[in-house]
Amino acid sequence: MSVWRESVRQESVRQESVRQESVRQENERGGELRERILQTVREHFRETRPPGEFVPGVTPILSSGAVLDEDDQVALIEAALDLRIAAGPYTLRFEQRFARLLKRRKAHVTNSGSSANLLALTALTQRELGEARLRPGDEVITAAPGFPTTVSPILQNGLVPVFVDVELGTYNTTADLVAAAIGPRTRAIMIAHAIGNPFPAAEIAALAKEHGLWLVEDNCDAVGSLHHGRLTGTFGDLATVSFYPAHHLTMGEGGCVLTDSPKLARIVESLRDWGRDCWCEPGESNTCKKRFDQQFGRLPHGYDHKYTFSRIGYNLKNTDLQAALGGSQLAKLEEFGQARRRNWQRMRDGLDGVPHLILPVPTEGSDPSWFGFVLTVDPDAPFGRHELIAFLEDRRIATRLLFGGNLERQPAYLDQRFRVSGELTNSDIITERTFWTGVYPGITPEMIDYVVSSIKEFVAAHGS
Ligand SMILES: Cc1ncc(COP(=O)(O)O)c(C=O)c1O
Repeated sequence: MSVWRESVRQESVRQESVRQESVRQENERGGELRERILQTVREHFRETRPPGEFVPGVTPILSSGAVLDEDDQVALIEAALDLRIAAGPYTLRFEQRFARLLKRRKAHVTNSGSSANLLALTALTQRELGEARLRPGDEVITAAPGFPTTVSPILQNGLVPVFVDVELGTYNTTADLVAAAIGPRTRAIMIAHAIGNPFPAAEIAALAKEHGLWLVEDNCDAVGSLHHGRLTGTFGDLATVSFYPAHHLTMGEGGCVLTDSPKLARIVESLRDWGRDCWCEPGESNTCKKRFDQQFGRLPHGYDHKYTFSRIGYNLKNTDLQAALGGSQLAKLEEFGQARRRNWQRMRDGLDGVPHLILPVPTEGSDPSWFGFVLTVDPDAPFGRHELIAFLEDRRIATRLLFGGNLERQPAYLDQRFRVSGELTNSDIITERTFWTGVYPGITPEMIDYVVSSIKEFVAAHGS
């Protein structure tokens, strides 16, 4: 080797080692700065959010809300420091952890629970399911009272909801009511676990199997609930979750679709991601090794797989900031579930024996991670729901109705095509006489005791 070439080589080795040293110093400095920022975030959290004292009648008792701690704020700031904005590694990690925790093979995060419901049901209309796919005009059995976006995807896909009634107390439908609703065009069942209380999922899953029907569990309000010792969300072909602040875990906005079927998972992912055929994760390319070597539709051979669209899709993706928060919330799922159960039980014990109110009960064989505490004013009561709610709200105790009540009575559904199976007597009672109050982990025993004593005081004053 010439002296000149040797000196060039030595110079480039020297430059590389200088570059590496400077990267190392930058990383070290970056790491130190990061630690300082995160420490400051923790201090800020503690300084600005001291635990408040509960003052009955003054402190609001919310029906639901996000319970966020300094770890949640740090998780958000860390993702921001990494400039993780679109879905990326935080989302992937969350999906893997969440699927494992909820005992399903695949989880796909979405931008809301409503989007998750839309994706789950739309997945069942896709052509690779062959004869099993849902076609316009097919019927989907669902509960009449509930949240509208459990039912809207049925209509959005040109399918026909078949409304069934529910029980008072559990606020869920029964396998018998579902069985009675099955008709010649019925192809699927899509039901929400009501207010955290599981519907009889094992029985309804068996019914679905017997009749060759798809089952979608809207698990948005029931993450962590158990039915016969098994997690809700593990009985259906697909299950959905919401991460809106009112729910068991939050990402601000967000949702998730879970399934054990790799085929359904692929369809959900594609529908979520514009309808694309390619399954590479964000930032990845050519994982199929055939990116420029396939033939689709009437496209030229080798058309980029990344830009090949095999279905009419949406963009219902989340961001990594959301997933970072979700990841930090996940660590608290168990503790949140215990608090919900404890709060519900304290309220249930406190109200036991109070006249004129129908108290909630877990569905047989269930251990619910409750979303709320549901009360129905007895049809024979000497007072109405409105008076009781007004009394509680006046004491800053937030109340909520059981979402949309009997949905067939909502303006949006009046001119829609649906079928009603049997009578919707209890759904109507729910629409007129039911409400719920909070049991979420932000509620303390003192708050529960105040709600209980307020309800008792009202009933004693108004009940003859
Ligand atoms: C049973 C049920 N399904 C779906 C949703 C919709 O979730 P999101 O608000 O995340 O769209 C809700 C919302 O509270 C719900 O209660």
